[in-house]
This record gives sequence, structure tokens and C-alpha cells, in this order.
Amino acid sequence: MGCETATNFQYSRGLEGVIAAITSISCIDGEEGILIYRGIPIQVMAKNSTFEETAYFLLFGKLPTRTELDYFIGDLKEHRALSEHEIGCILNFPKDAHPMDALRTAVSIMGLNDPMKGAESRDINLRIGIKIIAKIPSLIAAFDRMRKGKEIIQPDSNLSHAENFLYMLRGEKPDTEDARILDIALILHADHGMNASTFGSMVTASTLSDMYSAIVTGIGTLKGPLHGGANERVLKMIKEIGSEDKAEEYVLNALAEHRKIMGFGHRVYKAYDPRAKILKGYAERLSEKNGDMKFINIGKKIEEVMIREVGKKGIFPNVDFYSGIVYHFLDIPTDLFTPIFAMSRVAGWVAHIVEYLQANRIFRPRAIYNGPVDVEYTPMEERG
Ligand code: SDX
Repeated sequence: MGCETATNFQYSRGLEGVIAAITSISCIDGEEGILIYRGIPIQVMAKNSTFEETAYFLLFGKLPTRTELDYFIGDLKEHRALSEHEIGCILNFPKDAHPMDALRTAVSIMGLNDPMKGAESRDINLRIGIKIIAKIPSLIAAFDRMRKGKEIIQPDSNLSHAENFLYMLRGEKPDTEDARILDIALILHADHGMNASTFGSMVTASTLSDMYSAIVTGIGTLKGPLHGGANERVLKMIKEIGSEDKAEEYVLNALAEHRKIMGFGHRVYKAYDPRAKILKGYAERLSEKNGDMKFINIGKKIEEVMIREVGKKGIFPNVDFYSGIVYHFLDIPTDLFTPIFAMSRVAGWVAHIVEYLQANRIFRPRAIYNGPVDVEYTPMEERG
């Protein structure tokens, strides 16, 4: 039987080291801890750009002129508001649903109402992608307000992407520094090569399904605690540890029991995740601003012990380790941390989908069969 066997095919568990695409969108140097977006280091993007400009850069491959950016921002503003149908659906979501499940469902509802989906046109896929990028913050905020019994707030077209999210969540305009720190967090999370959720959304798109279905794949994949769901668990772990003096024992026990410490380790980075370095700075800034150093001190102790114990194995803080402390001080509920990741990464998902479809080939890997062959079919009455 000509099944794939271990001898005639190369198997890499979790596709480690396997090249699945060629891209010019972002690149990671895991040994040096470097991330670039279309050639620009992430530190430079975080310092100088905005999420809106970064999304444009990832989608179109060039930094926009002022006119191009204003047009793109206008496009986002046009699609932020929730329709009556979307609001009606969200009002009927279970209040205790996980926000990532609510978001996944809401994006599906967007797709139900869009006759344009499914077209194999780059322009239509980009237009749908920008619509989803625009609307995700509104969907997340609307679900959170609904589950708290509060009135859903529509976006304010005078506010930026990050400002609007905090406004729609809180019901009041955010302070400039809070909004800028969230904006930087969105820049940092916007793209990251062939991570699981990006790859998953590309697999869906490669069958010529539709952009909504591909983004729903991305959301479902990002939710997992080994991927985007880690940030929520990091803060829960820090709260469980409770004080700096208990951090070392907690970490050593976890390592002894081969339990993973959330927010550490990475398939590609074997050095400190450059995004974690930037987020650590803002976590410290917001801790000082709020006069509460407890979480950041526990976090820094966990980092110290982990680097001492497993740094030599290439295990360092990743993007999820300090982001939760930042979001905590932005008064964002812990179970919204991963939806915020999705709010940003959707730009990367759309960019990679559009790029891959320009030279599409359906993803169809192989598997090594290790089961039996030439097995007789046993009739029911002879099965005992
Ligand atoms: C993100 O891919 C991306 O780019 C993702 C991301 C992005 O922007 O899209 O960067 C975002 O998902 C960041 C990762 C968030 N997840 C976590 O923080 C969860 C905890 N981390 C691990 O589960 C793990 O490090 C992964 C999932 C991130 C990577 O998994 P790998 O590459 O499959 O590594 P592995 O599980 O095979 O671990 C290799 C070794 C093992 O030890 P040994 O069995 O060889 O002795 O490292 C150990 C692991 O036990 N290890 C850890 C650890 N992570 C790996 N030990 C303790 N704590 C950890 N966190």
C-alpha cells in the first residue's frame, strides 16, 4: 500500500522549522530577538507610528502619505458603527460567554449580512478585511457593556482606533496617555509571521472560502492558551501568586512539575521577545502612575527566576507576559485581553491572506500513516 511512511516523508511535529509561505510583511530573528514590519524594526514602529498607520503599512506594503492615511482612517470610521442587526444579536448573546467566543460569533454575523463575501477579488477581500478591522473594537466593547447591563455605545468618529475602544468600553473619553499606550500595544501585536492564528486563517482562505470565515478561524485559533490566550492567564497567575516573596517558590514548583509558565517561551524567539521589552516598560510606567507596584514586582521576580532557571534553554518572556499588567491598569477586564490581541492581529491576518491569495495554492500537508493495513472487515455478529 502506498501510504506515506516515515521513510519517504519528512515529519516535523507542530510544523517546527517548516516554511509554509514566502512573505514580505514581517520577519522574526529568533536568535537575536528582532521583529521587523516590512523592514522597519518594531521599536521604531512603536515609537513613531499609530495602529491605523501600521495596519495600512502591513496591508499595502508602504507607509501612507497623509492623504492616503486620512482616506484609510475615513474608511475605518465608516465601518465602526454597529448595525441594528448586530446590536440585536449581541443583546441576545449569553452574558457569561467568553468574549473570544462572542467575538468569533459576531464576526460570523457580519459575514451573514455581506453579499460581497467569497469573491476572489483582492479589492473585495481588502475591503471586507478593513471592515472587520474597523468593527472588531466595537463588537468587543458592545459585548462587554451588554453583559454588564450597560447601554451599548456607538463609536465617536472624532476618536482614534485605540481611543474609541476605551471610550466604547468605559462610556467616557480616555486620557491621552492611556489611549497612546493601548495604541502602542496594538502596534506591537499587529503581525508576527507564521504564527498559529495567521497560518490557520491562511489555510481557510487558501480554499477560496471567504474573508469572514478566515478571520473566524484566526479568532478561534488565537483563543488558545498556548497562543493569544496566554495573556489572560498570566495576570491570573500573578494574582494567584499574590506577593513577590511567593513568586520564586511558585515558579520552581511549576518547573519541577513540568507545568508551563504562561507568558514565557516561544517557538521562534530563543531570546527576549522585543515586544515584551517594550510592554514591560509601559507596565512599569502604569504601575508607577497608579501607585501600585505589586503586579509588576511579582512579574519581574517571575522573570528573574525563569531566566535563571530556563534562560539557557532559550525560554524568555514573550509578548503575553507583561501585556496583562498594562491592560489591568487601563481598567480592561482580564477576559478582554485576548480579544484586544485579536483587535490588533486581525490586521496581520488580513495582510497575509491577501498576500498569499496573490499566488494561492491550497494548503494540504501530508501525514505519516502508522496504522494497520490489509485488515479484514469483521461482520457485526462476529464481533463479540
Ligand atoms: C504567542 O507563534 C507566535 O509568533 C505567537 C505569538 C504571536 O505574536 O503570534 O508570539 C504570540 O502565542 C506567544 C506565546 C504565548 N503562549 C504562552 O506563553 C504559553 C506558554 N508557552 C509555551 O506553551 C510554549 O513556549 C509555546 C507554545 C509558546 C511554544 O511551544 P513549543 O515551541 O512547542 O515549545 P515546547 O512546548 O516544545 O517546549 C520546549 C521546551 C520544553 O521542555 P523539554 O520538554 O524540552 O524539557 O521548553 C519548555 C518545555 O517544557 N517550555 C517551557 C515553557 N515553554 C516551553 N517550560 C516552562 N514554561 C514555559 N512557558
